Amino acid sequence: GAEKVPMSKFESEEHLNDRYKAIEDRLAVVRKRLNQPLTLAEKVVYGHLDDPGHQEMKRGVSYLRLRPDRVAMQDATAQMAMLQFISSGLPKTMCPSTIHCDHLIEGTTSPQPDREGSFGGVADLKYAVKTNVEVYDFLATAGAKYGVGFWKPGSGIIHQIVLENYALPGLMMIGTDSHTPNAGGLGVCAVGVGGADAVDVMAGLPWELKAPKVIGVKLTGKMSKWTSPKDVILKVAGILTVKGGTGAIVEYFGPGVETMSCTGMATICNMGAEIGATTSMFPYNKRMYDYLVSTERGGAARLAEAFQENLKADPGATYDQTIEINLSELEPHVNGPFTPDLAHNLSAFAGDIKKSGWPSELKAALIGSCTNSSYEDMARAASIAKQALAAGIKAKVPFTISPGSEQIRATIERDGFIDIFQKIGGTVLSNSCGPCIGQWKRTDVAKGEANSIVTSFNRNFAARNDGNPATHCFVASPELVTAYAIAGDLSFNPEKDTLVGADGNEITLQPPVGDELPSKGFDSGVDTYQAPPTSTQRASLSVKVDPKSTRLQLLTPFKPWHGDDIKDAAILIKVKGKCTTDHISMAGPWLKYRGHLDNISNNMLIGAINIENGKANTVKNVLTGKEGAVPDTARYYKEQGLSWVVVGDENYGEGSSREHAALEPRHLGAAAIIVKSFARIHETNLKKQGLLPLTFADPKDYELIQPSDKLSIVGLKTFSPGLPLTVEGKRSDGSTYKFTVNHTFNENQINWFKSGSALNAMAAKFKA
Ligand code: F3S
Repeated sequence: GAEKVPMSKFESEEHLNDRYKAIEDRLAVVRKRLNQPLTLAEKVVYGHLDDPGHQEMKRGVSYLRLRPDRVAMQDATAQMAMLQFISSGLPKTMCPSTIHCDHLIEGTTSPQPDREGSFGGVADLKYAVKTNVEVYDFLATAGAKYGVGFWKPGSGIIHQIVLENYALPGLMMIGTDSHTPNAGGLGVCAVGVGGADAVDVMAGLPWELKAPKVIGVKLTGKMSKWTSPKDVILKVAGILTVKGGTGAIVEYFGPGVETMSCTGMATICNMGAEIGATTSMFPYNKRMYDYLVSTERGGAARLAEAFQENLKADPGATYDQTIEINLSELEPHVNGPFTPDLAHNLSAFAGDIKKSGWPSELKAALIGSCTNSSYEDMARAASIAKQALAAGIKAKVPFTISPGSEQIRATIERDGFIDIFQKIGGTVLSNSCGPCIGQWKRTDVAKGEANSIVTSFNRNFAARNDGNPATHCFVASPELVTAYAIAGDLSFNPEKDTLVGADGNEITLQPPVGDELPSKGFDSGVDTYQAPPTSTQRASLSVKVDPKSTRLQLLTPFKPWHGDDIKDAAILIKVKGKCTTDHISMAGPWLKYRGHLDNISNNMLIGAINIENGKANTVKNVLTGKEGAVPDTARYYKEQGLSWVVVGDENYGEGSSREHAALEPRHLGAAAIIVKSFARIHETNLKKQGLLPLTFADPKDYELIQPSDKLSIVGLKTFSPGLPLTVEGKRSDGSTYKFTVNHTFNENQINWFKSGSALNAMAAKFKA
């Protein structure tokens, strides 16, 4: 038989062979039913169907039930996901899962009193471990108890760790971070999701995804000089815009694919998130093989090679849209400011800056991050820095390097790149997100002061990196960012302009060069992984949560349905107009309470506009007659045993998949959310938490309701799929009215409602 290949070096009991066999079996069923050539995206997605024999498969239409191979979570989102999982009562996650401590480490570039006067990676990590101790302890113990691999702070950025250890061609994974698609560089169908989806998959429920459309990007030619894989995605972003990939998987193909490194392909897939794509994928190729061998996964490389027919599109497969890029003609790009789809060719960039009046003087240059910190990236950037060093010049502006992982950091240190970066004045930050996610203690520019920075990251929305909405952030390849750091000005074009060396002579930077993979192999550096203990050891573990903590709180399962109609519920708020998940559960300063449902519930609906007075966060308490804040009023009703509903407008809950927007109303005593229409993900999230998302059969009935009315929801005893419910309204003058509401619950989801939540339903099934 073929050699047995473990899913990762940490998971010796799970085998890639079995996954490939399952994909093949499902595809055999799917091929018979569809009888048409398949794209790569379809092969991998349909290869993970829960029920390939009966699943409807129409691109852009059907809702697929899928069985992903793994789950990855970053520390900011993992908190609520693990708390929910714990509350299910299940003894262990049903799907290989990992937690990555990367988002909570703040980067510094100047001496800090709270870091003993020091700054940079080592000092920042030490400080983060101190300030986030309870969150890290919780995640470490929860991971150990429930069988989740735990990557400690300092290990690196989730997507880089996944690429180095877990990504394998043809797998499907979900991650609680929008740049999860990074693993598409190694042929994974990797999708970014909210915590609620991660909980489902860890609990053994199928994961639901609308069958994606497929956009084909044909690559021809070969890159040269300053052009790099980053420029491919910067170009694609310019063509498709930030919305162009919505609901689609972007699939690359063509002879140009072979010319790119595996990590370069990962960069392209990573930034596919910037065009709204579900994910991006590359077909299996030799460069993936090389990367797998280099990261000590030769067995997987050979297995994937043998499986490659299933890892690329069939001849004649059709795409919903196709674009073509000739790599030989592709120019280096710089995109921005404020949006990643504002694409500039390098040759036109200086002119564009001038025309638009953007500050051309540079204030900071930042390389690395999950997007661009491969060995190749670092080698090419170092080749530029080395030329400055030889000419006796340094970076003119603060220059930071964020290694994607401890393995990258250790390897580039061994190979001398870190030394070069530091010699031109660079600061090596910790192996974490840092400035990429706004964890940057920037002190050189005042808030509101217009200035420019350039990064090799992915997102450049206003205030993303430093919290200053006046910072113009541009994105480019690490080698180009390094050249800008040395020049200190964005109107510098390294392809034609010269710099002045220490001796006064002009120098021209030669195009970057660098090895794709380290010739001496990777140095894994400090061991930063905590493997889950054996099941007997796990049984005796307990999860650490301080009952007095303000940041973490264990969850109690929600109560099951009481078996009767909802009677005389108060209307907490009748919302007017737009109500996104940000209106329902704000981010910003509230992020630190992501692991504490009661505390974060103090932001519930504080952004929604009350139709009664046109104000946010001001509603009349129907019991006391007094005006108060929305969360306080909800708490009061809960204490008094009064159930309540929210009445809302169109597309209620649009925005992110944030599960807090459903957990909070449930926690504070909501029974139903009645609106003109829902954003689909939020609607499902509400169902998962045991709430009733209902829509007016006649949207005009929205007008009928006065905020002081009482509403009863009738028909729950015969609650069934497709059968509408009735709402009976009572005015304060005693008069009554009635209207019909629709719902989209299926049998299974009705069971969630009756059990009190999807998790309760799951736990009951497990116990039975
Ligand atoms: Fe995300 Fe940047 Fe971290 S894109 S995972 S915040 S490095």
